[in-house]
Amino acid sequence: MDFLYERLLRPLLFHLDPERAHEYARNLLQNASRLRPVCTWMSRRSQVGEGVSLWGLQFPNRVGLAAGMDKDAEFVLGSAACGFGHVEVGTVTPEAQPGQPQPRMFRLPEHEALINRMGFNNKGVGAMRVRLEKLPPPGRRPVPVGINIGKNKSTALEDAGRDYEYCFRQLADLADYFAVNVSSPNTEGLRQLQESERLRASLRGVQEANAARGAHRLPLLLKISPDLTFAEAEELLTTVEAMGIDGLIVANTTVDRDMLPAGAWERGGLSGKPLLRRSTDLLRFVHETTGGRLPLIGVGGVVDAATAAAKLEAGASLVQVYTGWVYRGPFFPRTLARSLRRHEEAPLPR
Ligand SMILES: Cc1cc2nc3c(=O)[nH]c(=O)nc-3n(C[C@H](O)[C@H](O)[C@H](O)COP(=O)(O)O)c2cc1C
Repeated sequence: MDFLYERLLRPLLFHLDPERAHEYARNLLQNASRLRPVCTWMSRRSQVGEGVSLWGLQFPNRVGLAAGMDKDAEFVLGSAACGFGHVEVGTVTPEAQPGQPQPRMFRLPEHEALINRMGFNNKGVGAMRVRLEKLPPPGRRPVPVGINIGKNKSTALEDAGRDYEYCFRQLADLADYFAVNVSSPNTEGLRQLQESERLRASLRGVQEANAARGAHRLPLLLKISPDLTFAEAEELLTTVEAMGIDGLIVANTTVDRDMLPAGAWERGGLSGKPLLRRSTDLLRFVHETTGGRLPLIGVGGVVDAATAAAKLEAGASLVQVYTGWVYRGPFFPRTLARSLRRHEEAPLPR
């Protein structure tokens, strides 16, 4: 199936503007998501062994859909049917916003990479609520659904915490976990929120709202940038552990172009194969620095079984994919999940 995609469908899709191709794929997956029994049946076929138990959640396999593909939670069931063992929707912001002007997504086929400067185009929290309410409630879904939250472009950096808290409060009853995005390069200044004091201030409201849920407290993860130096990451980790953050997603896209040949590349975040090394090195550093105490999701450059296994070997309990799905086709997540079978029994960090 993956072979057919690469030989037949991908060349057709790649003739289209990347955002137009994304819209076709999204419509297809949205329509597929309406065939609920079929999606449920297909997602059961992606169960690998006993699955993975983490943060009190049960994941049917280790491969998830990274944030940004399903920004408005429009095709969760379709993604699960393709084999993903969890789906992270968003980044969602309190209000709908258009994102940056087009063109803002670019393919680098010879590198199996993308560059994007989307800028959190999304329909806002209200629209996401409506979509998620149509799904079975948390715990009864084919796969866990994480909600990745961000701030509106018009919100000052000092007020980011208000946006995160608003998103959290509006969607908490519909989430299996939350991921706080402090690492997208396409929202000005956002990555400064990784500095300890700013991070504490930005997450205070979310953490208080979460603590007030008592026994229904949700796992709260932080998604970080691959452009952090190890020294910056070390400081961040001290803060993260002190704050009781439940896990990290390592990592977002990079603004560096060191991993590409010299050239006049588009502005924005680079993803896909060239990001593998940088994001995996950071993942390993985080795993070693925290002594394996912090559960990690490895993302960045997973394009085949070997790259996915490299993430697990560097300390990830789960992996996520975005660009690899674009290059390898609809059922790539299932192929990948099955290829990771031998990691089923791997001990997980506590
Ligand atoms: C077009 C595009 C849009 C993205 N949007 C988001 C987003 O809204 N929020 C987020 O946290 N990450 C976003 N990402 C980053 C991905 O979730 C992922 O961290 C990154 O692409 C590295 O993984 P990959 O190499 O498998 O693509 C986006 C990536 C791409 C390519």
